[in-house]
Amino acid sequence: EKGNHRHFMAKEIHEQPTVVAQTLGHYLDMANETVHLPGDVTIDFARLERISIAACGTAYYAGLIAKYWFERYARLPVEIDVASEFRYREAPLGDNGLTIVISQSGETADTLASLRYARDEDQSVLAVVNVATSTIARESDAVMPTLAGPEIGVASTKAFTCQLATLCAIAVAAGRARGTVSAEEERALVGALTEVPRLMNEALGLSDEIETLARTFAKTRDVLYLGRGTSYPLALEGALKLKEISYIHAEGYAAGELKHGPIALIDENMPVVVIAPHDAVFDKTMSNMQEVAARGGRIVLITDASGAKQAALPTEATLVMPDMHPAITPLVYALPIQLLAYHTAVHMGTDVDQPRNLAKSVTVE
Ligand code: F6R
Repeated sequence: EKGNHRHFMAKEIHEQPTVVAQTLGHYLDMANETVHLPGDVTIDFARLERISIAACGTAYYAGLIAKYWFERYARLPVEIDVASEFRYREAPLGDNGLTIVISQSGETADTLASLRYARDEDQSVLAVVNVATSTIARESDAVMPTLAGPEIGVASTKAFTCQLATLCAIAVAAGRARGTVSAEEERALVGALTEVPRLMNEALGLSDEIETLARTFAKTRDVLYLGRGTSYPLALEGALKLKEISYIHAEGYAAGELKHGPIALIDENMPVVVIAPHDAVFDKTMSNMQEVAARGGRIVLITDASGAKQAALPTEATLVMPDMHPAITPLVYALPIQLLAYHTAVHMGTDVDQPRNLAKSVTVE
């Protein structure tokens, strides 16, 4: 049921504060401000030497963000690949490795094949899945459910942010087990995660402003998304979301890659969405944004109040997000990205919940 929403996608975007709170409740002990993985998960994080991640599409982008968290908080090397490459590239996986597969449906053919490959290579396999009865859940050594509830819209939204919530909790738990996250840091990170549902509600308040902006997006042919750090995978996700439901060509790039090619595309017709919370890499992203402005690019900046103040550049629009701990920005900044794709597609009149050529679950390679 869509409730009072026009599309399942809109309903699922707006459900995120609730379902992310549910998912976090499963992994966090909010009263004691600690991470608390379910009892049946017996991964010895202290013994691990590395993590491999395999997934497809939006789930792959969740994995790319998690790579930053595992490396930073658990000091574990992470390699990640799309499942369709992982399964065939004959990667040597080595001893004491954990493979994490991420999937909403739990039935994606390439992700399942990656899981089987990893098991054959003697890796422990952890699945982050939304459908608890799925094949991927059944065949994994450990399952971390995302409690997003059924996702009907073909474009993944709430499953993505619930995957991020789960993966962030696992990374902090791994850091605790390995002694790379102190009790004090754990408290700060759990406190930050606990704030996510409230911050998401605030971000949803930007919907009208984004709807207005989407009117101009609906008239463009190409859009570029830029971000650094964990905002880089979010740039990739923003581009995917826009292209799959509005059919506008979009590309996501690491902001630092701009001058290595995509800058050639910039002119006064192409919107450039810059995802830049005021974090440790903000200044670097701003100098990339400057390069876009110097070439007459139409900038849409997504940042917070201090970022907006320091940007000091003319933009077509600046979406001002609430202030938050840098660890959790991908969860909250995902919402304006989803809303921009959604409203653009609605303006264009496409079939938002059932975009052409796409299936909700890809069970063939
Ligand atoms: C994008 C999207 C797809 C899926 C991908 C993986 O909005 O929905 O890219 O994320 O097909 O599907 P699951 O997560 O079911 O393995």
